[in-house]
Amino acid sequence: MCGGDTGRGGGGACAGSTDLVPVPARVTGPSGCGFVLDGRTGIDAAPGTEGTERWLRSAVGAAFGLALPPVPAGRDDAVALRLDPRLGAEAYRLDVVAATRSVRITGGDPAGVFWGAQTLRQLLGADAFRRAPVRRGGRTAPAVLTDLGIEDRPRFGWRGLLLDVARHFLPKDDVLRYVDLLAAHKLNVLHLHLTDDQGWRIEIRRYPRLTAVGAWRSRTKRGHRASPLWDDTPHGGYYTQDDIREIVAYAAERHVRVVPEIDLPGHSQAAIAAYPELGNTDAVDTAGLAVWDTWGVSPHVLAPTAHVLRFYEGVWEEVLELFPAETSPFVHIGGDECPKDQWRASPTAQARIAELGVGDEDGLQSWFIRHFDRWLAARGRRLIGWDEILQGGLAPGAAVSSWRGYAGGIAAAEAGHDVVMCPEQHVYLDHRQDAGPDEPVPLGFVRTLEDVYRFDPVPPGLGPDAAARVLGTQANLWSEVTENRARVDYQLFPRLAAFAEVAWSTRLPAPPARDLADFERRMTAHYRRLEALGVDYRRPDGPLPWQRRPGLVGRPFDPRPPDA
Ligand code: ACM
Repeated sequence: MCGGDTGRGGGGACAGSTDLVPVPARVTGPSGCGFVLDGRTGIDAAPGTEGTERWLRSAVGAAFGLALPPVPAGRDDAVALRLDPRLGAEAYRLDVVAATRSVRITGGDPAGVFWGAQTLRQLLGADAFRRAPVRRGGRTAPAVLTDLGIEDRPRFGWRGLLLDVARHFLPKDDVLRYVDLLAAHKLNVLHLHLTDDQGWRIEIRRYPRLTAVGAWRSRTKRGHRASPLWDDTPHGGYYTQDDIREIVAYAAERHVRVVPEIDLPGHSQAAIAAYPELGNTDAVDTAGLAVWDTWGVSPHVLAPTAHVLRFYEGVWEEVLELFPAETSPFVHIGGDECPKDQWRASPTAQARIAELGVGDEDGLQSWFIRHFDRWLAARGRRLIGWDEILQGGLAPGAAVSSWRGYAGGIAAAEAGHDVVMCPEQHVYLDHRQDAGPDEPVPLGFVRTLEDVYRFDPVPPGLGPDAAARVLGTQANLWSEVTENRARVDYQLFPRLAAFAEVAWSTRLPAPPARDLADFERRMTAHYRRLEALGVDYRRPDGPLPWQRRPGLVGRPFDPRPPDA
């Protein structure tokens, strides 16, 4: 017979679920008697764990109306937070001891403690994901905890999501919410795509026109660029420097690193609209250029001049100040999809190729990237760029985001460069999640929840040395057809939960042997968490009526991607 307050019967509490997402490395239990966190429960936080203490109080405490006050070490009725570096980076151990109504979370570092606290929140039930208590029958109901032991550690150190805030701006509060959603899934990198042809989204004090002009467009193409439809509402927005500082600090408190991307030398029409002299003015007239209002890859690229290099060094000086090295060791320089037509037509660009002896336009692109590789390295940062930066030879310190399949990542890893695997055939979450006709604005390949669950960031056949160069993996969400938070939610979820399990869990076997049924069973509990968080996820049987976008033209590719 169990003593203690199980809350069963009149209380309304129910047993917690060990249906965790992502699945931990090892779980023992649950077994024995149960108890609930209640007004007696406090937090006993060892030095170095104060961030998680604050987060537990603000998230779990708020959800259940519990003060969770600080308590001395060794007391019963406590959530004890401890550090033990022997566990390793980001690893944690979580023990629930019903006899003393206590939880102990030991992390290999402060991040590990935080991931353990995220696991505790999942154990406390879906209501732990609300912002205020839900009172049923007059009382709040955290789930019952029983004796349990969890050991866990991440498979990869880079578990990322790219948000494209350039094509459609996401207000700051939405970005903060996605930081919380990343943290809830033990994802730890937010890659912010801050600039593109269709908008410049970060305040740069010395170049005010980048946001005064570059942060808005007069109208927007609705659907794929082949669509005849326009939204004539001006679209825009940008983050002030204090907004950026707030996002970075909020993310750091949640052990999420923010990687800023300033895309160059392509994807630069918004910057050239703001400062026409950045363009290839001897080949095209850039004076009347506006921020682009449709989708695709603009031909307007940066001119390969000393003035452009100095201008972008000025941009990066401010960006590096906003994204400190401790939390943003890597910064992203884009380097993708740079059409070379304007450089072919520009006498200045051709003279530059001859003067530098770089052979052709690819060499010019490589010269741009190498310049910033050196410039960033001198300031203690690492450059990362899209796999096109392999063209013309990879800069010595550069890391690669492999998006056009695995091939670029394999080549870079085999040459000794660090790699983040994000192949578009597998983890571009703007791509449609079903072949059916109701999928909103269907783009790209069909990538179902199962497909994402079966993705492996390390392609078979990669040798051990090269495999060790795979820092991790990242899901990318480009925002041409995700015009607001609800659309972003729909494209991300539930697939981001599958992606998180792939990126985090050391327990997943190679893809063919993955237990989809077990994942789907655990997702039943996870959908309740997403609902409590207010996530507009795609239901397993398809979009809700208001999640559809009838009449908007997409661009479906063949349903199944080629092996890449
Ligand atoms: C990309 O999708 N152009 C990186």
